[in-house]
Amino acid sequence: MILVIDPDARFAKRVTKTVGARARVLTVDAQIVEQTLAGSGRGADMVLVGPRVDPGTALDIAQRVQETSPEVSVVFVADGFTATQMQAALRAGVRDILPVEYENDHLLETVERAQSISRHLASRGGGGGAESRRPEDSTVVTVFSSKGGVGKSFVAANLAITLAKRCGEPVALVDLDLQFGDLAIMLQLFPARTMYDAAQNTAHLDGEAMQGYLARHSSNVHLLAAPFEPGLAETIPAEAVGDIIRVLRQSFRYVVIDSPAAFTDHIVAALDESDAIALLTSMDVPSIKNLKLAMQTLELLGIARERIRLVLNRADSEVGLRVQDVEKTLQTTVDVTIPSGREVPLSINRGVPLVTEVQYSPVVAALEQLAASIARGNEQPVAAGAVSKRSRLLRRKAG
Ligand SMILES: Nc1ncnc2c1ncn2[C@@H]1O[C@H](COP(=O)(O)OP(=O)(O)OP(=O)(O)O)[C@@H](O)[C@H]1O
Ligand SMILES: [Mg+2]
Repeated sequence: MILVIDPDARFAKRVTKTVGARARVLTVDAQIVEQTLAGSGRGADMVLVGPRVDPGTALDIAQRVQETSPEVSVVFVADGFTATQMQAALRAGVRDILPVEYENDHLLETVERAQSISRHLASRGGGGGAESRRPEDSTVVTVFSSKGGVGKSFVAANLAITLAKRCGEPVALVDLDLQFGDLAIMLQLFPARTMYDAAQNTAHLDGEAMQGYLARHSSNVHLLAAPFEPGLAETIPAEAVGDIIRVLRQSFRYVVIDSPAAFTDHIVAALDESDAIALLTSMDVPSIKNLKLAMQTLELLGIARERIRLVLNRADSEVGLRVQDVEKTLQTTVDVTIPSGREVPLSINRGVPLVTEVQYSPVVAALEQLAASIARGNEQPVAAGAVSKRSRLLRRKAG
């Protein structure tokens, strides 16, 4: 069923004529669209917002429908949308924008897609198919910094393990530092295949095939390693990165991505797919300046502040800067501060990730806090409460 919203009844008539017997068309008032959806059971596949509805109201409808009935496709029929309105519409979950003089086939195609989406979701509701997740069930986190050596790889590996512990499921870790990635060494893994192999034929890549490219770590983290040779990085098309992440999303609740210290095409593709970005900096003036630029670039890429977790690493280094100074310069609050710890280089050199061997330390507690800020739903930290209490005690002892 299609719910049509437009003050001009001729629009609904035209739609009815176009879709014929393929779908029932019902005209509703913009004010009560949620109630109508709630009352229709799983009957409605699509809300079609007509050209006489002003853009502000249209966006409002889209947002409300996405919140209450995300399985229902919202489609606008409108001309003259500005680029900003278009972006806002896509962000509000609008699945398509058709011109007022739409081609009948275009509308029919949109209706078919909407119907197949709601069919798919209805069939999922019946249980089964646990292996295949909806993209919304999966969280992709990119650990990024536009400066090298600030702890990205350390944080990415340990964050992935912390998330795996929290959710009790395997977590995917992707080494997108395609030239110099060292996660395999950090985790003492010897992968037979890498990102390079996975990127060769993404058109036929699915969850099952992907398993063949991943190296399993005992901590329940499955690594897609960087290519063995730095020169192979540029042979990997940026689109392949998006494809790979989307395939990983289908089988993993969390996908954690480590990155090089630059906005490469590969990273931009990954940021595009990311639900959260852990943006790292260390406590020195050049890093903080870099961070400010990175935040501006992220803003240009359309990444909202809510998606960013600002992480100060080695926050207690004796460099004469305080967290408050950093916040003042950046005009935003720091989300997580990770202190320096001798155990960090020790763990890296031993090839045993810190969070697998040390249960309580201020660094581990900070990683837990970062994981908690990314985790969704009703997951519980592995040792809820105990971790923070113990580490608070430890910190007091150390201080
Ligand atoms: N909280 C910390 N306390 C002490 N040392 C740390 C901490 N975080 C990172 N380090 C050290 O910093 C070094 C760099 O870390 P890492 O390799 O994770 O950085 P990176 O950002 O991935 O670097 P690159 O840009 O070269 O990939 C490591 O030797 C690590 O031991
Ligand atoms: Mg690194």
